[in-house]
Amino acid sequence: MPGAIYAEGLVKTFGDVRALDGVDLDVPEGTVLGLLGPNGAGKTTTVRCLTTLLRPDSGKAVVAGIDVLKHPDAVRRSVGLSGQFAAVDEYLTGRENLQMVGQLYQMRAKAAKVRAGELLEQFNLAEAADRPAKTYSGGMRRRLDLAAALVVSPPVMFMDEPTTGLDPRNRQHLWDVIKQLVSGGTTLLLTTQYLEEADNLAHDIAVVDHGRVIARGTSDELKARTGGERVEVVVHEREHIRDAVEVLTGFGKGDPTVEEHTRKLTVPVTGGAKLLAEVIRELDVRGIEIDDIGLRRPTLDDVFLSLTGHVAEARDEENGANGTPADTKARGRGKETTE
Ligand SMILES: Nc1ncnc2c1ncn2[C@@H]1O[C@H](COP(=O)(O)OP(=O)(O)OP(=O)(O)O)[C@@H](O)[C@H]1O
Ligand SMILES: [Mg+2]
Repeated sequence: MPGAIYAEGLVKTFGDVRALDGVDLDVPEGTVLGLLGPNGAGKTTTVRCLTTLLRPDSGKAVVAGIDVLKHPDAVRRSVGLSGQFAAVDEYLTGRENLQMVGQLYQMRAKAAKVRAGELLEQFNLAEAADRPAKTYSGGMRRRLDLAAALVVSPPVMFMDEPTTGLDPRNRQHLWDVIKQLVSGGTTLLLTTQYLEEADNLAHDIAVVDHGRVIARGTSDELKARTGGERVEVVVHEREHIRDAVEVLTGFGKGDPTVEEHTRKLTVPVTGGAKLLAEVIRELDVRGIEIDDIGLRRPTLDDVFLSLTGHVAEARDEENGANGTPADTKARGRGKETTE
């Protein structure tokens, strides 16, 4: 049975650009999928297709058990979306923005008011609740947009770079909110440029590049595929690099890599701490002084780099224009039209 979010062969072109080139996804109910990929990979386009803001050229999508292409209105009622570009009404206050969303979802006025109050508290916006959103900072807008996505706690949620532009405290806070949501049974698809975020929140990760899913698995599975542990040594003297390379070659499973300017050498190994101790002894015997040495497992950043050839980079959302202006203009959810 397909999961709460299911996509098969999604294709979307914009003129010459093939933004999606056959995206397949399957997210089991009550889990979090982290969608990772370099800028322009097709993450936002995927989210927009799955939330009915864009109509794919071909392929199939089922969200919350509903066919996205056949019944977009029903899908819209069952999903929550927080876009990459905060979609708040500048002229309304934070409180009014949230109440408006509640009313779009046919909540009673009183219930919408109560819910708005709860969310303003939860997202640290209570003090600014009665100011027009145009006076909010970037991080406050982002939080208001996330709060708006949670007004009706839909069973399936999409969050496109939810914590871009948030300070560490607010990011941590949002992670807690997300964990709480998911423990309540919500299914979430999340895109992010912060790999730590995917590591922390996602049960499963899909890496997209050039409009296709190029790798899929848990964080640990992807790390294991990138290669096992490695020994990292920083030698004290540049003159010792050559000798150290010789030592590491003797212990490693492959050729050591050398970063001249930091005097750092890295070599893939098996054997863990015991081997590390042997390396230290041998370096000592040869009189190679070291500043630092350690055993390192690949991080999700290493995975990302080895799969896509890019380093993940977080951008400032205000400067992040990437050809999806419709998100910025959208005023309130459930009102957008399918392009
Ligand atoms: N409305 C549009 N018109 C033309 N091209 C578009 C449109 N939306 C997206 N694209 C193009 O489709 C490709 C995928 O864009 P998308 O926004 O999905 O990338 P992304 O993975 O979300 O990137 P980012 O990390 O920068 O947010 C890019 O080449 C982008 O320029
Ligand atoms: Mg995007």
